[in-house]
Amino acid sequence: MRMVVLGLGYLGATHAACMAELGHEVLGIEVVPKKRQQLAAGEVPFYEPGLPDLLKRHIDTGALRVSDSYAEAAEFADVFFIAVGTPQKKGEYSADLSFVDSAIDELVPLLERDALILGKSTVPVGTANRLAERADELAKDVNVEIAWNPEFLREGFAVLDTLHPDRVVVGAFPGGTAEETCREIYSSMLEENTPFLVTDPSTAELVKTSANAFLATKISFINAIAEVCDAAGADVTAIADAIGYDARIGRKFLNAGLGFGGGCLPKDIRAFMARAGELGAAEALTFLREVDNVNMRRRTRMVEVTREVCGGSLLGKRVAVLGAAFKPESDDVRDSPALNVAGQIQLQGASVSVYDPKAMDNSRKLFPTLDYAADAIDASEGADVTLVLTEWKEFVTLKPQVLNPVVRERNIIDGRLCLNRQSWEAEGWSYYS
Ligand code: UDX
Repeated sequence: MRMVVLGLGYLGATHAACMAELGHEVLGIEVVPKKRQQLAAGEVPFYEPGLPDLLKRHIDTGALRVSDSYAEAAEFADVFFIAVGTPQKKGEYSADLSFVDSAIDELVPLLERDALILGKSTVPVGTANRLAERADELAKDVNVEIAWNPEFLREGFAVLDTLHPDRVVVGAFPGGTAEETCREIYSSMLEENTPFLVTDPSTAELVKTSANAFLATKISFINAIAEVCDAAGADVTAIADAIGYDARIGRKFLNAGLGFGGGCLPKDIRAFMARAGELGAAEALTFLREVDNVNMRRRTRMVEVTREVCGGSLLGKRVAVLGAAFKPESDDVRDSPALNVAGQIQLQGASVSVYDPKAMDNSRKLFPTLDYAADAIDASEGADVTLVLTEWKEFVTLKPQVLNPVVRERNIIDGRLCLNRQSWEAEGWSYYS
């Protein structure tokens, strides 16, 4: 089938390459010139395991093409995916839908044939209803159907999650073609017996928002328990293991530590609260305020622990920060807990040296005043304390012996509960978490 993907960021580039992998002919539309040129040359402008090979292969065969022309898009296909960003508005909780709106505004007036527009971006409930009205107003003499087909991919596993999702959800208006078209697009997944759920558009929008809100709640739940464990001298990992054996609870997403960040969970729970407020249902989601509070408290607590380890003041201290990405296997630093902590520590007068295996360029752009090191050893040179804030494998397996000769003080803070405490203590390190 022929299809267009509007917006080639983390979501759109992955979706476009994966649709080509499923045998479709895909045109990707990207308006940022640098990104577009890289993608057209078969290069992925961000780190995502497995995606560069896939993208390059399909660019080379011509199954996937990249353009900036909406006119070309309107000509190319009758099925369009919206994969543009929906970031948090500056200084507000709600989502900025300007990219979604402008995709509709630019595309729909150009359509010469009936078309199906499938939204993949995470949007506040009610967006598809609003866009359907807008599309009706903008469409010439053609029928433009809007439906929502949310994406549940995780960065770092984006290709796997897109090709083998846990479920496909299609939120369609009655009487349209969305269900049938999605069954065709995703036929290989249906052959694998992937659950295929058809709902109305508002429900589909809420499926995505609810899933992310639940995941965020699970993380903040275990982090709240971690606060109690700190006060009581108990072991939060043992608790997560023990409660996780209950199949109703499950062990996944119960890793206590520095909490969640990234381009999705933090902004999605805030946008969800804002939308509930608009709908007059704010009270239903007041618990998400606390989920956010617990999460943000992890960052301040990490700064406090670092200051305590440094003897009560960070002034003039050297702090090594290992990890900057919001999670391993990603170069994404949007709302990164690690960089937030590094920035706060610097503000309190320490000199902070950061190293991350993949996120150095993005970190430099976001926090240009921090020092950036060539590797973990370089970052730890003369350090009074070393912080592990993203659980990259190379930090999890880092031998204390490697850092022994370079640090000033053998203090390690494990921000992700990912280190082997005994092996650090055996080398004379003071271990904190
Ligand atoms: C998330 C959802 O998982 C995905 O389904 C949705 O489509 C987009 O948002 P992503 O942001 O890529 O995906 O990352 P995820 O793996 O969910 O991790 C989010 C954050 O939670 C990371 O900062 C991670 O470090 C943190 N986390 C995760 C924890 O602190 N503890 C855990 O147990 C799990």
